[in-house]
Amino acid sequence: MNLYLQHVNILTPDIGGTITFYQEKLGMKLAARFYQEGIFDIAFLRDGSASTHFAIELVGPPFIGWMEDTYQKHGPIMDHFNFVVDDVDTWYQKLKVSKTEFVQQPEHFLGVKEMYFRDPCGVITEMMALDDPRLMPALSPESPDGKNIEYRLHHISILCNDIPAVERFYVEELGLHTVLEAREDGYIFLIDPLVLADETMTAPSLEIMGPPGIEPREAAYLAKYGPGIDHLCFVVDDVDAAFEELSAKGIQFDLEPMEYAGSKIAYFKDPNGIDIELMLPIPREHFIS
Ligand SMILES: [Fe+2]
Ligand SMILES: [Fe+2]
Repeated sequence: MNLYLQHVNILTPDIGGTITFYQEKLGMKLAARFYQEGIFDIAFLRDGSASTHFAIELVGPPFIGWMEDTYQKHGPIMDHFNFVVDDVDTWYQKLKVSKTEFVQQPEHFLGVKEMYFRDPCGVITEMMALDDPRLMPALSPESPDGKNIEYRLHHISILCNDIPAVERFYVEELGLHTVLEAREDGYIFLIDPLVLADETMTAPSLEIMGPPGIEPREAAYLAKYGPGIDHLCFVVDDVDAAFEELSAKGIQFDLEPMEYAGSKIAYFKDPNGIDIELMLPIPREHFIS
């Protein structure tokens, strides 16, 4: 019953402009686009490193089902994130037993079987299995050319009111592993079992944040949206150089590079107002071995 993080979703009114932003500013590549006029418009962006399947899924109007309600209520937002699994029906049966709240029962759509459910703080999680795994949007591996900073999609961050309850769900029900604990500071990191052996500590991760240690920025998010997907993060090898490069490209930073917990971070926004974090890879010694 393996699973791995495949994408985080952004609902956007401007899918073309958002694609251009991530391509031009962060070197991402358009891996796939599914478009049928008046029915759906979906794009997948991958980071240039092509070392994992982790992607950003952009969904533009018209939005379907609950996504339309969410968009009407909040405007552009990260609606859900996604795990790829071998068999959606097996997971459906398992999660039904534990009284998980489903947003959508298993259904076929565009060559995948997928379902959506809520974690204990209400964040929507998608699980999907591909009819043909070879159809996973993929980029041919490219080595960085050395001229540009490499921005590698690293984690998405769930902001909730109860870290232990959310952690219990992802660990006990879904089989993720807690790899870093900073509970007084209000965050932990989880990764899926398939990347446990990763030595670089830059594998796709789920950050769970919540009281007691939340910052004013996070308190403002909770007050505005309630629990949700708060930010997405790219690791870079040099946050100061990335700050210089992106500033030169016209990005205004909300937080300029700052030392934090043995790393260095900075924050800015994408054109949809989504908070984006830049971070140095977390030092290995911070992880639970
Ligand atoms: Fe999705
Ligand atoms: Fe983060």
